[in-house]
Amino acid sequence: MTCARTHRYRVTLAERLLHPDNPTLATQIGGRRALFVTTPSVARIYGQEVQALIDRHGLRAELVVLSCSEQHKTLSQVAWLCEEARRRGLDRTGVLVGIGGGVCTDIVSVAASAIRRGISSIRVPTTLIGLIDAGIGLKGAVNFAGKKSFLGCFYPPEAVLIDPAFLRTLPQQLLRVGLAEIIKIALVCDAELFELVVAHGADLLTSSFAAPGEPAKRVLWLSIQRMLEELEQNPYEDRTYERLVDFGHTVSPLLEAATDFTLHHGEAVAVDMALSATLAEELGLLSARDRGRILASLRAAGLPVHVSRLDAALAGEALREAMRHRGGAVNLVVPVAIGRATFLKHPSEIPERALEAAIRRLSSEPAGASPLMLPALAEPPLG
Ligand SMILES: NC(=O)c1ccc[n+]([C@@H]2O[C@H](COP(=O)([O-])OP(=O)(O)OC[C@H]3O[C@@H](n4cnc5c(N)ncnc54)[C@H](O)[C@@H]3O)[C@@H](O)[C@H]2O)c1
Ligand SMILES: [Zn+2]
Repeated sequence: MTCARTHRYRVTLAERLLHPDNPTLATQIGGRRALFVTTPSVARIYGQEVQALIDRHGLRAELVVLSCSEQHKTLSQVAWLCEEARRRGLDRTGVLVGIGGGVCTDIVSVAASAIRRGISSIRVPTTLIGLIDAGIGLKGAVNFAGKKSFLGCFYPPEAVLIDPAFLRTLPQQLLRVGLAEIIKIALVCDAELFELVVAHGADLLTSSFAAPGEPAKRVLWLSIQRMLEELEQNPYEDRTYERLVDFGHTVSPLLEAATDFTLHHGEAVAVDMALSATLAEELGLLSARDRGRILASLRAAGLPVHVSRLDAALAGEALREAMRHRGGAVNLVVPVAIGRATFLKHPSEIPERALEAAIRRLSSEPAGASPLMLPALAEPPLG
């Protein structure tokens, strides 16, 4: 037997998406029964607008609110959502509409892949990480047994609707962590994007990506475009285990787990990128100048470049875990210039003394911003 499925979905700019007269979402859903899934903060800010949109267009839809902190990115949240879908009579043509950050759309994707073995999902990302990364790809995952994103799926959405106006209500700290993922994609494949972030990062943060207008749009769209180009080459990660977008995502999963998921994903990615860049310099693969620019860009974005929890033991375990995840190869992504990266495939290419020297060096330099304390942001579980 041979079976294959080709899936196409559009990532569309949909400005003023929640305006009651905007037909975009209603047209996408049509007459199907839909469950809108969002987070407590998003419900607080946008819940009424969503409900007004549902009413205005006579959608067969209801809105449910999911606990959406990283600590709640678990199978029980998926099960809760599946039960809500069942209770509200979602049939096989039903659709889940995830309106939220990466945690929300990750949980929605896993639930959509599981309900009746797969129903449709639409993503409306509302955070910066969501708009340029988590919300536009085809993966969903939850944390399991203390492991970051250990259970999940490749399950493409039917559509992604991008409205940058959601960023206006996003707390600054969550914009900063989004910049980490923008810097990630810039460093591995787009020097122009990196220069735009260096030139305009501060203004983009203070204006919530509203100003300066042209650079803000360009940074968002270049980030989205580059991410989709990278994903499209290997959407199900079965063509190769060498993925440039894994830059910053080797040590970070263990760092997140080691801090009980109190270190935000984007901050862990920033620390991982700083380590990878420092290691690259130790190995003679990256110039001191470029390493300096990379760390400066992370510090300027208000991100940490080192946390005390990162030690040689954790880094060593992260490399072993990477091998379990990447078909026996480490495939550590390290930058070789701004906009270009390479893979360190075999453990022998990452000598322990170089790794230790990189960590020592980072711990003796300014650590960048202190990490946000996620419990302070965490939303209460649903009663
Ligand atoms: N599936 C993927 O390919 C992929 C890629 C990157 C990241 N991720 C995952 O994404 C998660 C991080 O996502 P995130 O940065 O979006 O954080 P998040 O999903 O944890 O959201 C952070 C907080 O922002 C609030 N929020 C969302 N939109 C808002 C808005 N417009 N205004 C005010 N508050 C708002 C949410 O309620 C939540 O409390 C991590 O779990 C990470 O693993 C997944
Ligand atoms: Zn990420």
